[in-house]
This record gives sequence, structure tokens and C-alpha cells, in this order.
Amino acid sequence: MGKNKSSYSASIITYCRAYHAMHDEPKIFDDFLAGHLLTDEQRTKFDAMIYKSNKALYYIGSRKTFSSIIKLLLPRRFKRTFEAIAPKDLNLISSPTSAVDWYMHAHGALALAVSRARYTEDNLVEAVGKGVRQYVILGAGMDTFAFRCPALMDKLQVFEVDHPATQTVKRQRITELSWEIPQTLHFVPVDFTHQRLDEELKNSWYDPKILGFFNWLGVTYYLPRETILATLRKVAAIAPKGSTVIFDYLDTDAFDPAKVAPRGQWFLWSHKTGETMKSGFDPSTLSHELAALGLRLEENLSPSDIEKLYFQDHPGNYHAQEHAHFACAVVE
Ligand SMILES: C[S@@+](CC[C@H](N)C(=O)[O-])C[C@H]1O[C@@H](n2cnc3c(N)ncnc32)[C@H](O)[C@@H]1O
Repeated sequence: MGKNKSSYSASIITYCRAYHAMHDEPKIFDDFLAGHLLTDEQRTKFDAMIYKSNKALYYIGSRKTFSSIIKLLLPRRFKRTFEAIAPKDLNLISSPTSAVDWYMHAHGALALAVSRARYTEDNLVEAVGKGVRQYVILGAGMDTFAFRCPALMDKLQVFEVDHPATQTVKRQRITELSWEIPQTLHFVPVDFTHQRLDEELKNSWYDPKILGFFNWLGVTYYLPRETILATLRKVAAIAPKGSTVIFDYLDTDAFDPAKVAPRGQWFLWSHKTGETMKSGFDPSTLSHELAALGLRLEENLSPSDIEKLYFQDHPGNYHAQEHAHFACAVVE
């Protein structure tokens, strides 16, 4: 992320959450407020961008006779993605809208965004039932929990920690929308690569003696490995024993062009958006790495576990994102 530039990926994820809330039934995760956090200009820009990048798909769908020739002409990386997400029945792609719709379902980003949010908030509800009273959202982006879940807000102190540039844009948008900021919501601007999470939290209303629940979604991929480990170490140091941290991560195959799944090609192109995905973990050694930081790995969901939990019975064409894993760890 640029030093003074708000996160582009946070806006894309918001678009995905809003799209799911507006178009899908049943919903895996209902973020009915997400759409408000995008400006009309952003929504129109993303619609156009997704349509443009799917024009080839639409073109192929509407001109079936030439499809095999076009497929031959596609650069290799597009061809792999196309083969992974193109519908078997090209009649399904009959208009620009249906091309966008198909893409949102077949591409892994939306499925990843809604399943990790669902997993985390289900666990949070359980944790609140067991007495957790602090919720820290690391790299919150356009997360709407504080406005969407008033009953839980009454029981929790919530800390939105994010890069100062992204948080400034979000706060401006909240002001434009005239949303009232709950008294139990606290904004803590932190750049994980340059500032200390523990110190910034201690300077806020955060109480290191109270059991906490930390959410770190859609962020680890973008940080240097040493920053991820240092941040998790600080979570373990600043939260009492029994506190929880949930984060998602990519496995190391996601960064290997020879091993990455066809639907994971976007990890390799992320630098084109100005936010490069650079770090992953080996799922088989994660528990050792976390133990060294003072965290016990309680659950480590693989893409096939996530598929079984959220997608196998869903009628939409959604599938867990290859290479994306969900980890739930507890402070020792
Ligand atoms: C893809 S968004 C994830 C948003 C949200 N957590 C979600 O799952 O929808 C990535 C978030 O990471 C934050 N981020 C990226 N690099 C960061 C850094 N160095 N320090 C703090 N936050 C960072 C961005 O500001 C952005 O909010």
C-alpha cells in the first residue's frame, strides 16, 4: 500500500460484500450496509472495470463459433483463468450483466470475503457468550460490524485498527452518510509496517487485562513475513491468556506460478493494483510458528474444509478460494 493511499483492496472487498448482499439468496454473510460505504462513482467504476475485464468472456459466450480460436489467442495466464471459471454452458453468458454476475460467482474473491467474515463473526458470537468484551478488528477496511450489530455493540468495546490512509477515507464516508458512531467504537490508526500495535492500542481505550477477540482478515498476504509475525507476537503480548485471534492466510503454493491454481492467478497479478500479495504460510508448520509467538493454533481450515462448511450446499456457483486458509489461535 502507498504511504498516503487508501486501500484499493478494501474497496474491492466492500464491492463483493455488497454484491452478495444485494444479489444472492441464501446469503453466506449478510453485509446489508456494505453498499453504502462505496460512493456511486466507485460502484460505477468497479461495475465498468469488471465488465471490461470480462468482455472477452462475454464475447466468447455470444460468438460460440469463434470461441476455440479466441481461447487459443489468449495469453497463457488468462487462458488458465478462463478455463477455470468459464461456464460449461456458454448460453448462460447472454448479456453484460450476466457476464459480471458469472464472474462474481466464479472468481474466488467474493467467496473468500463472505466466508471469512461469516467464520469470524460466528466465532465472535460464541466468544461473547463466554465473556469476551473487547473486539479488535485489525486492517478493518470498510468493515460494518459496529453499525450492523447494535446488540453486540452494547456488550463490547470495539477497536477498528487500520492503516491511517484507509481509516481517514472510511471516517469521511461515515460522516458523509451521517452515520452515528457508537460510543463503544474506537478508531486506532496504525501502519503495521511502521508502528507498534501494542503501543497504539495501549494509548486507546483498549484494556490489556480484558479478554479480547482479534480479527485479522484479508491483510496478512500484503505484509512482509516479519511484520506478520511481529504483529501476532504483539497480539499475544497485549491480550490476556484465552483471548482469540482469527486470521486468514494464503499457502505458499499461491505464490508459485507452477503450483498456483487457475483461479488463484490474481494473487500473482496483485502488484498491478498497487497492493502486492507477498507472504504466505505452510499450513503444516503454522502451529509451530504460532507456538513460538505465544499462540496455540486451535483450528486451521483448508480450502476443502471451507468448501464443506459454506459452499457445498449453496445453490450459487460459489467455491472456496484455492490456497486461502482460516486460522483460529488462542493466547497461551
Ligand atoms: C483487503 S482489505 C481487508 C478489509 C477487511 N478486513 C475485510 O476482510 O474485508 C486490506 C486491509 O488491510 C489494510 N492494510 C494493508 N496494509 C496495512 C498496513 N501496513 N498497516 C495497516 N493496515 C494495512 C488496508 O488498509 C485494508 O483495510
